[in-house]
Amino acid sequence: MVIVRPKVDQGKGVVWEGFHGNRVPLPPEADGGGEVSLPKPFYEDTRAGIVIYNADCRDILPHLPKVDLVLTDPPYGVNFKGKETKHTKSSGGYISGDSDIGPNVVSLALEKTTRCIVFPGNRLLHSYPAPADIGCIFCPSGAGRGPWGFTCFNPILFYGKRPGGPTSPSSMKSFHTSDDVGHPCPKPMEWLSWLVSIGSRVNETVLDPFMGSGTTLRAAKDLGRKAIGIEIEEKYCEIAAKRLAQEVLF
Ligand SMILES: C[S@@+](CC[C@H](N)C(=O)[O-])C[C@H]1O[C@@H](n2cnc3c(N)ncnc32)[C@H](O)[C@@H]1O
Repeated sequence: MVIVRPKVDQGKGVVWEGFHGNRVPLPPEADGGGEVSLPKPFYEDTRAGIVIYNADCRDILPHLPKVDLVLTDPPYGVNFKGKETKHTKSSGGYISGDSDIGPNVVSLALEKTTRCIVFPGNRLLHSYPAPADIGCIFCPSGAGRGPWGFTCFNPILFYGKRPGGPTSPSSMKSFHTSDDVGHPCPKPMEWLSWLVSIGSRVNETVLDPFMGSGTTLRAAKDLGRKAIGIEIEEKYCEIAAKRLAQEVLF
């Protein structure tokens, strides 16, 4: 039996000890028809409405209630293990699931929401369900290199409709860089803050099934949204929990 007890609580959220499994219990039919409950969160801040699960998102998603917005940055089909750089080395080295898991999970997530925003990366862009709209983060100083030159944009897939209507651009020019938070590929906070603000309203719930270091959740919390994050690697859950427990980010 796993005993779960709070490790950190001071009004800053709770990191739970005891649940570190990556698989959720059996589905109801395999379990004799009983109700399946979600596992204990890795981190929970009930005041702000923030929850993190250390798990495979494919196991958690079917058991979650509907959310207002799914905003996510899935693995891009690039194997970070085979591409060690100074940055990935200093930040823990690799991400799991560098495959086409993103398109499958986005299909699953679309059953849980009417609004969804995805960073598909370039390599797997065409494997995703057809979006309602496409935007980008335009990075004039370059965001990688392709066979035809420097890639200067990060595509964004939009599903559903923007709350309040299409009143401003669905792309953004950016010279922002990511903070060195201990994850090999965190997104800049400014990108996620912009997407949370155009994709959801105050008090709505934002879900990121590939949470990484928790940039989406931190942006959501700062903007008065509730948020659910799922991350398969415990070390990234720890980073996210620490970022969320900070009262103010600089
Ligand atoms: C591109 S990163 C997300 C980075 C994030 N946007 C940030 O700013 O830190 C994708 C994350 O998905 C996680 N991941 C991969 N497969 C997963 C799965 N099946 N369930 C949950 N998380 C998964 C990886 O460990 C990685 O941290």
